[in-house]
Amino acid sequence: MFWEPSNTSGKVDSAFLFIVSICIALLVMVTFAMILFLFKYNKKKHPRGEEVKESTALEIVWTVVPTILVLLMFYYGWVDFRYIRNPPANAMKVDVIAREWSWHFKYDNGKEAGVLRVPINKPVELIMTSEDVIHSLFIPAFRIKEDCVPGMKTHLWFNADEAGTYDIFCTEYCGVGHSHMLSKVIVMPVSDFESWYQAKEAAPPVGGGQQLLETKGCLGCHTTDGSPKVGPTFKGLYGSKVTVLTNGKERIILADDAYIKQSILHPDADIVKGFPAVMPILPVTDKELQEIIAYMKTLK
Ligand code: CUA
Repeated sequence: MFWEPSNTSGKVDSAFLFIVSICIALLVMVTFAMILFLFKYNKKKHPRGEEVKESTALEIVWTVVPTILVLLMFYYGWVDFRYIRNPPANAMKVDVIAREWSWHFKYDNGKEAGVLRVPINKPVELIMTSEDVIHSLFIPAFRIKEDCVPGMKTHLWFNADEAGTYDIFCTEYCGVGHSHMLSKVIVMPVSDFESWYQAKEAAPPVGGGQQLLETKGCLGCHTTDGSPKVGPTFKGLYGSKVTVLTNGKERIILADDAYIKQSILHPDADIVKGFPAVMPILPVTDKELQEIIAYMKTLK
């Protein structure tokens, strides 16, 4: 009935539809009885109250029928819940690391990415954790959602049966950048996925910096197109004059190599004026810093 691009979508939808249909049927019946009684037992027709006799049969019916309905709702929910909670043993495993404010995906062969690429018609298990606060990974199209908790591993699984690109949201309020904590699931034909999965990461130096900004999660808070996000944009940053707060004192510095290095390695030293002091310290090598700086120089 609904658009169901994964095995889990249909399961959740049918339980949902079952419950909603019962609710609608009950709403219609109760409303109908209410209106009917309004006329039937109107005071004008019955100026004097009459004694109402109890009806055992009626009482049994209105106890047993709702009990069965509620148990059926529980049963449908429970069967599908168990199915969704238990990934099959042959599922492809992907590690998910949530952090303020980006998603990071790691594959068994060491491949890493900021978007989740998966093959079509293959069960995928997400093994999730967080580096800081509680986040929650939600893929609306697949109707699955689970918290990512620091110091803990949580799981989700799905088997996508329609190629395409689907949204990933964070659905646990996790700070200023929460609404920017977005990513995608890209469901690809098996051969396309394999060629991506097996491809060696031999990016050119410029693309390298761009790739790093994505995989390190920088683009969770910064943009490269000039629009502001949680942090200042990288567009036109290199070589510009930046107003920062150093120990609460305002000063203007030139965004050169030293400044960019400093702001990545010690993000709390100079806070760009007008932005929250929330940037985490990321592990970056010297070579990676060089690539990031080289890429920033191209963002005019
Ligand atoms: Cu992460 Cu909200």
